[in-house]
Amino acid sequence: MRESALRWWFCYRRRGKRRQVGSVGKGMSGVIGREPELAVLEEFLDRGTPWLALLLTGGPGIGKTALWERGLRLARDRGIRVLAARPSGAEAELSFAGLFDLLEGIDIGSVGGLPVPQRRALEAALLRAEPMDAAPERFAIAAGLLGVLRSLAASEPLLIAVDDLQWLDAASAEVLAFAARRAQGQRSQFLLSRRSGPATGVEGALGPAVLHTAEVGPLNLVDDRHRTACRGSCR
Ligand SMILES: Nc1ncnc2c1ncn2[C@@H]1O[C@H](COP(=O)(O)OP(=O)(O)O)[C@@H](O)[C@H]1O
Ligand SMILES: [Mg+2]
Repeated sequence: MRESALRWWFCYRRRGKRRQVGSVGKGMSGVIGREPELAVLEEFLDRGTPWLALLLTGGPGIGKTALWERGLRLARDRGIRVLAARPSGAEAELSFAGLFDLLEGIDIGSVGGLPVPQRRALEAALLRAEPMDAAPERFAIAAGLLGVLRSLAASEPLLIAVDDLQWLDAASAEVLAFAARRAQGQRSQFLLSRRSGPATGVEGALGPAVLHTAEVGPLNLVDDRHRTACRGSCR
């Protein structure tokens, strides 16, 4: 009896260990491996880096979205409010589709101190209010977005997250760039991803001093498992 209990305990421990090794870096969001990239993400979200923005780049299918999604989860676990958009190529021509996603669930009317023309312009752009007589000015929409982001960041840390930035519609990209240019000193961060290729306007607005680009390479499970097994003590 005692022997079988011991055997059970031994198997339990072994099973547990095997499960641990077999799921290196695999969290609830299904990311396998990527230990170095996840470490960078966590350090960034913990504000252990001077970066205001982290950009994941790489070819299609390399794993950018998997990491980006994990970043959102890590941010939420830390009590960071996440505003996210995942533009697609099919919607790149729809003005303010990206902004619509970013501000989904945000009650703009309750944002204190937002001047009425900015609130009305933003609400009209998001199709939450009757269209104005004339199309709302981009400047008013951009200023309204900045006001909303500043107000949110004043009450809690904020992560503005855009996956596949190369497909963000031009109108959203323009107003987001306006806000990005003025984001320093706020409690907001940006987590971006895009395919390898030319830099976008949002990146230009952030500038190289605060934007860190991480090239996502192929998965290297062997190295990741080795690193985890060694817990940093071997070369
Ligand atoms: N580290 C990973 N662990 C598990 N699955 C992954 C990982 N990286 C990518 N994948 C899977 O590979 C596929 C392509 O990854 P994805 O993140 O969409 O690539 P990208 O955004 O670079 O085009 C998806 O099905 C994704 O779930
Ligand atoms: Mg993707």
